[in-house]
Amino acid sequence: MKKKLIKQIIRSCVILIMMVSVSLIYVQLSYKKEFSLKETGIRSSRDSTLITRGQYLVMGPSHCWTCHTSSGIKNFQTSAHTSLSGGLKVELPFGTIYTPNITPDSETGIGAYSDEQLARAIRHSVKHDNTAMVPFMTFNTMSDYDISAIISYLRSIKPVKNRVPATELNILGKVVARFALKPVLTEAPKYVKPDTTAAYGQYLAVSVANCVGCHTLRGKTGEFIGSQFAGGYQMPVKGGVFATPNLTPDAKTGVIASWTVNDFIGRFAAGETFPDSPMPWKSFQSFKKEDLKALYYFLQSLEPVKNDVQPFIPTAPE
Ligand code: HEC
Ligand code: HEC
Repeated sequence: MKKKLIKQIIRSCVILIMMVSVSLIYVQLSYKKEFSLKETGIRSSRDSTLITRGQYLVMGPSHCWTCHTSSGIKNFQTSAHTSLSGGLKVELPFGTIYTPNITPDSETGIGAYSDEQLARAIRHSVKHDNTAMVPFMTFNTMSDYDISAIISYLRSIKPVKNRVPATELNILGKVVARFALKPVLTEAPKYVKPDTTAAYGQYLAVSVANCVGCHTLRGKTGEFIGSQFAGGYQMPVKGGVFATPNLTPDAKTGVIASWTVNDFIGRFAAGETFPDSPMPWKSFQSFKKEDLKALYYFLQSLEPVKNDVQPFIPTAPE
């Protein structure tokens, strides 16, 4: 009787091991899932107005260089690291990601990629090889015009030869890549006219500068679980944890509730106060005054949400 039971258990184990092995082999062979997407039709140009706009977005509001540089998160704030040659190492539970070189070097950068490949990376989070990326980039609703400006600028800068190690996914990462990662398919406008209205401020906060992505509480897979712009999203760093302040105009708990528009502009001109803050203050120092006005009017127009956040909690000494 006992023998029979043991045999049964062994048989179950063998079956289980076989099933797991087959699944692992399947994932290993198929995790590079390719997606075919509709053409965006977005193209680069040598037009100097477009290139100037692109430079402003890449180095300022869209802060591309803070990730596409090898200097690491601790150097987010140092203006010296403005090369877009990639190599920032991001360690995640499912693998090690390296940010690509986005200078126009044809061997190690984006020189050999088409406008369409670049546009799809920015709009849909799909790499040049048609695989979906972990959605680090949040420019999916950026206008066709602004994406075209960004690509035009990237094509105009000096190529830098810098071979970046390939992103390495562990088995968990491969499972995620096979079953969960998908292109981000959202509607986006053709053009959004810059002005100082709250509507343009919303475009900046959501589609261009990703204020919303950091200043909103998010769940394990990145989905919003708190009220937008009410803060509370935690970012651990060495020595403590940052939590994003509440940007809604709640009189008691909203950081900017009592600020005037000039206070807001002055705050961005001043730059970071916490040396290790993940907020790309250095990039944001080049925000145009009119754009900051639009952002301010937008944030002040939000529904006040009560959420008291302490921006930095140091780790208790051991
Ligand atoms: C928060 C960090 C972050 C920011 C900000 C960011 N990127 Fe990226 N980007 C990444 C990561 C990470 C990858 C690669 C992910 C991978 O290997 O799966 C990537 C990939 C890319 C690719 C794809 C290259 C390829 O292989 O096809 C392009 C193009 C790109 N980024 C351009 C930009 C531009 C332009 C901006 C600014 C508008 C920007 N990125 C801002 C993190 C960032
Ligand atoms: C990568 C994450 C990240 C992004 C993107 C981001 N922030 Fe922040 N922000 C933070 C963190 C963390 C803090 C708290 C630490 C600090 O003050 O630097 C903060 C603080 C602030 C403060 C409070 C400053 C003070 O003096 O009390 C304001 C205002 C602010 N952010 C506005 C914005 C706006 C507007 C945007 C978009 C243009 C934005 N943030 C984008 C992470 C981010």
